[in-house]
Amino acid sequence: MNPRTFRLLPLLAALVLSLLPVALRAQAQPASSLTTLMPLPSTLVPGTGALPINASFTYALLGHSGPYIQQGAVRLLRRIETRTGISLPLAAAAKGQDATLTINVLTDLLETNPQLGDDESYTLDITAQHAQIEAKTWIGALRGMETLLQLVEPSGSQYVLPAVHIADAPRFPWRGLMLDTGRHFLPPAVIYRTLDGMASVKLNVLHWHLTEDQGFRIESKVFPRLQQLGSNGQYYTQQQVREIIAYASARGIRIVPEFDMPGHATSWMVGYPQLGSAPGPFTIADRFGVLDAAMNPIRPGTYTFLDAFLGEMARLFPDHYLHVGGDESNGKEWRANPQIRAFMKAHHMQTTAELQTYFNQRVQTILARHHKQMVGWDEILNPKLPRQAVIQNWHGLEFLTNAAKQGHDTILSHPYYLDHMYSTAEMFLADPLPADSGLTPDQARHILGGEACMWAEDIIPETVDSRIWPRAAAVAERFWSPATDRDVNNMYSRLQVESLRLEAEGLTHLSGPPRILRNLAGTEQIAPLQLFADTLQPVDFGIRGHEQRPSPATVFDRLVDGVRPDTPLNHQFELQVNGALQGNAGDVASLEALFHGWIANAPALDKLEAGSPLLQEDSVHIAAWPKLGQMGLDALQAMRAHKAPPAGWLQQQEATLKAANPRSELVDFVVLKPLQKLVEAAAASPAGN
Ligand code: ACM
Repeated sequence: MNPRTFRLLPLLAALVLSLLPVALRAQAQPASSLTTLMPLPSTLVPGTGALPINASFTYALLGHSGPYIQQGAVRLLRRIETRTGISLPLAAAAKGQDATLTINVLTDLLETNPQLGDDESYTLDITAQHAQIEAKTWIGALRGMETLLQLVEPSGSQYVLPAVHIADAPRFPWRGLMLDTGRHFLPPAVIYRTLDGMASVKLNVLHWHLTEDQGFRIESKVFPRLQQLGSNGQYYTQQQVREIIAYASARGIRIVPEFDMPGHATSWMVGYPQLGSAPGPFTIADRFGVLDAAMNPIRPGTYTFLDAFLGEMARLFPDHYLHVGGDESNGKEWRANPQIRAFMKAHHMQTTAELQTYFNQRVQTILARHHKQMVGWDEILNPKLPRQAVIQNWHGLEFLTNAAKQGHDTILSHPYYLDHMYSTAEMFLADPLPADSGLTPDQARHILGGEACMWAEDIIPETVDSRIWPRAAAVAERFWSPATDRDVNNMYSRLQVESLRLEAEGLTHLSGPPRILRNLAGTEQIAPLQLFADTLQPVDFGIRGHEQRPSPATVFDRLVDGVRPDTPLNHQFELQVNGALQGNAGDVASLEALFHGWIANAPALDKLEAGSPLLQEDSVHIAAWPKLGQMGLDALQAMRAHKAPPAGWLQQQEATLKAANPRSELVDFVVLKPLQKLVEAAAASPAGN
């Protein structure tokens, strides 16, 4: 329609090329807010001028509006106030009156619980005089409000919204975050702030993993011994659940509950041992991993119980989808039970996987009776599984494509396991529907989107935010933004800004880790420890499990709990090393300052270590830190002098690098690979020149 309209990416590339060196290298002026949106909108056309935000900034609700839109608008104004320090009138202007911001909802989609496939598109137009959000639905209008908030920026002595035309819609309809509240209970306050973070980045499904071997976290009125005996008192009441659902709905977020079965179900059997395949009695699991307890799939009473329980949950949770887990049921108790073995033989079942499919067919029938559609982890995929079941991928990508080829709707999670400590870039680049997927258009339509997964073996309420955020914001962008959005440097530069915005929403990924560091150090003066922590990240889930063997009784107050995955230094360091290798003097100077800092702060870190038995657990990393600094300085010096270091130097550095991340300590230096590059380049300097 507008000849000047062009896709966002070329524009961003141009803006970023001009702004990125300043923003990233010198950490000087923040880039224009038009270049920091996350997720990226599908179309953005900058305008001329800016709309000032001042005390006469008013808003009006046009078209259809109910409580969710009204509350959303008030929340928006309150958040603009926090950003700008300006009191704004919170009452909507009378219709027809000239308001600064108009929010126009075109259709009367009922303001109720959102559903898969709701229209979330919106347009946002800002001129020097006026801002307008227009959307087909109230949910689209909420998405537009989040974009508008991200655009608030300082300009001279005031705050403004830059003039722009944005037309935006999500690429995938299912954009989720899975939260495991079974292994470690997360109180409602954590769920609320997580929902706020999700809304900020346009995630629209909270997949709530509510039952595990280690805890049954939801109140059942039909079978109260589930939570009474299965949770150590740590569970959500139905009233709390209703309030959380209402809070999520008001933000356009669906809640899909998961009740994991037939495995990962020990906690059910503590109060109801008849559900088990072994005689019992059962106790709440005191360790993690794949346990043997599994529901008895041949007892009619199992299905009577599930019918009543799932019926109760179907009434509590309004979403059309209900997740029944299905992962990691190892079949051991089934094979050990003579009646179950006889049943399998009588029904010509060779494997326990076939028996699990039988179980799933019966559960699917129960869910259909309660008007719910089944979701399960990809182990449940089987030719006999009813096509209505949605498959959540967590193994290789082929499980996703196989599900789609077999006619199941499916969602991708394998690349987005937050506990695997993948870098933000790795998660951002993993696409639910890559161009080379090999799927036909009909098959591709089955890919609904994806979910980032936060499993909770290693997290507690105080650490969960730093594991999820800000990385999940980049995953949210993968699910929302155009497939062509794949510029990693640009993503990282926006992520820095988004991370601050998320902390301002009440998340604690930035404030939480220093709290743990202060506890470790026993002092407020943690600058040396913070500098050190910035070079580290937690080890991968598997290594931590092997080395630490965490259990529900583990205390999470170690250095690993106070460091963040993919710290900002990680990507910045890589860029600076690449810049230095290309002869960029600014990068060389930045690196020198950094390396000097590691060396200069090492004595103070040693002193903190001497006074902290907990820090002494990471003594190898602490001792290696200044050596890495010296290594970097030596490498830069050799490159500057065009003079290769002495014989044996490279081997010595490589040995130091190799020894720097011992498996026995639960943190990893994030700087080793770029350092290795630097060292190799230095060693390749011309000898004797
Ligand atoms: C899973 O990670 N066990 C689904």
